[in-house]
Amino acid sequence: MRARVIAVVNQKGGAGKTTAVLLVATELARMGLRVAVLDADPQRWISCWHQQLGKNCPDLLQVVPYVSAANLEREIRRCQPMVDIVLLDLPGARSPLIAQALGHSDYVLIPAQGSAMDAQGAANVIDLLSYLEEKASIRIPHSVVLTRINPIITTRALQGVKALLTEKKVHLLSTPIVERAAFRDVFSCGETLYTMDERSVSNLGRAQENAQMLGTEVFERLVRYGLIAAAKPQAQQHTARLVA
Ligand SMILES: Nc1ncnc2c1ncn2[C@@H]1O[C@H](COP(=O)(O)OP(=O)(O)O)[C@@H](O)[C@H]1O
Ligand SMILES: [Mg+2]
Repeated sequence: MRARVIAVVNQKGGAGKTTAVLLVATELARMGLRVAVLDADPQRWISCWHQQLGKNCPDLLQVVPYVSAANLEREIRRCQPMVDIVLLDLPGARSPLIAQALGHSDYVLIPAQGSAMDAQGAANVIDLLSYLEEKASIRIPHSVVLTRINPIITTRALQGVKALLTEKKVHLLSTPIVERAAFRDVFSCGETLYTMDERSVSNLGRAQENAQMLGTEVFERLVRYGLIAAAKPQAQQHTARLVA
């Protein structure tokens, strides 16, 4: 089976895209899938994180830096035979890369903060996907994932947003990405949630649990859409190196 492409898209900067990419990529790799992240975010957070990780990097996770409109398609094609999942970390601003990335995607994850629909960037992506379906009969499965949710008001926020998304017939992941220091610090310290020191990061266990639930839910979605096999892969070999 060729590698499946997941784009994480929201035209708004700061929506939590790169954080979602890092968490989903790490969890899918921990579950035994070979994952390549293509870093097309001009902020290059994922590439810098990956560079700092060194031997802390999960075996099955690789990051390809400097992906742009000029080489996106080539990089996807290059990675596909060597991995199971290609995750795209995209720029925030309106960029030709977004439409281009959607054209290659098997599944789209749309991070949105707080009461989702006020995040206009998420609504724009959903409208674009609906347009593709109506005009070109191209149906790309997609889900919204709530990000930076205050752990205390999770339920109330979720209820309001669920109602809105149900009305729009948009799938919402039941696991939101909670606002956690660990999700912020993981970028700056060259660690994963599993190598960080629990004495120096508050609620690290909760953050790990949140990330695992998210990873499991994304995995289940991919299975449901027939994009990957239901059985969790057995421990796989090291992937061929995508970056020297
Ligand atoms: N769940 C979270 N908990 C804490 N900080 C977060 C969370 N999600 C995002 N952030 C922080 O918010 C900022 C923007 O997030 P980022 O993932 O880079 O968004 P985007 O890629 O959409 O621009 C970053 O500083 C990031 O560390
Ligand atoms: Mg980003």
